[in-house]
Amino acid sequence: MTNYTTTQSGAPVASDAHSLTTGRDGVTALHDRYLVEKLASFNRERVPERNPHAKGGGAFGEFEVTEDVSKYTRAAVFQPGAKSETLLRFSSVAGEQGSPDTWRDVRGFSLRFYTTEGNYDIVGNNTPVFFVRDGIKFPDFIHSQKRLNGSGLRDADMQWDFWTLSPESAHQVTYLMGDRGLSRSWRHVNGYGSHTYQWINAEGERFWVQYHFKSRQGVELMEAAPGTSTCRSCRTKMRRRTVSTRSTSPRSGRTPTTR
Ligand code: HEM
Repeated sequence: MTNYTTTQSGAPVASDAHSLTTGRDGVTALHDRYLVEKLASFNRERVPERNPHAKGGGAFGEFEVTEDVSKYTRAAVFQPGAKSETLLRFSSVAGEQGSPDTWRDVRGFSLRFYTTEGNYDIVGNNTPVFFVRDGIKFPDFIHSQKRLNGSGLRDADMQWDFWTLSPESAHQVTYLMGDRGLSRSWRHVNGYGSHTYQWINAEGERFWVQYHFKSRQGVELMEAAPGTSTCRSCRTKMRRRTVSTRSTSPRSGRTPTTR
């Protein structure tokens, strides 16, 4: 038996935690065939307990451009006064279909703009940072937060093994274990596109942008202690509601639920 990762055809892989990039801090190279194989395999997993974002709820809406950003983009959907129909789906990440809303978990959002130039899709989370930088770690991260195939249980050791062995996750772990880890409802979360996107204007000039969607209802949280606080990172006012919460780990309860 081997103690290293192999490709599906049995060849050892150089690394299952670092993608091939164009130099230090460079872009990820898609000719890293193990990266492509690993993500393709993960994306095709259809075990309901292991699918990320399995539990969610959606709503139709309308997007209207109220400011002029045309010097940054020529996309029709972002021209002054443009209106587009939208479909928005909120979800939890680790919880499977039917999991409780009270689990400490990041909330995902996916937004589709029905534009005159075709559909435009953005996914993100209710937190502006993310656990991993290199996408090759994403399947391992999700699996570490999901139920084990053998026992059907989540495992706090597995979750914390991933986090502690991936120090780049510390900022997002802090978010998760803080106020934002227990959102009160789909209506009370902000959305952050996470990735940096490229906009191109009519002159062909390129700009780097991020999408931040702020809830009109404000951010509301489930917390044992009532009161309000302000998020130090994004200055959002956060209201707390009193509810009972449970550990994310049904096995040991070692994962903290409240501060
Ligand atoms: C290499 C990295 C990633 C991979 C391989 C991946 C893969 C997946 C997969 C397989 C699904 C389930 C699709 C389905 O069966 O319905 C999914 C859904 C989703 N992912 Fe990712 N993901 C990645 C990174 C991210 C990141 C960084 C975010 C946000 C910061 C994100 C946000 C979402 C959201 C919001 C959904 C639910 C989409 C919906 O509502 O339909 N993903 N992703």
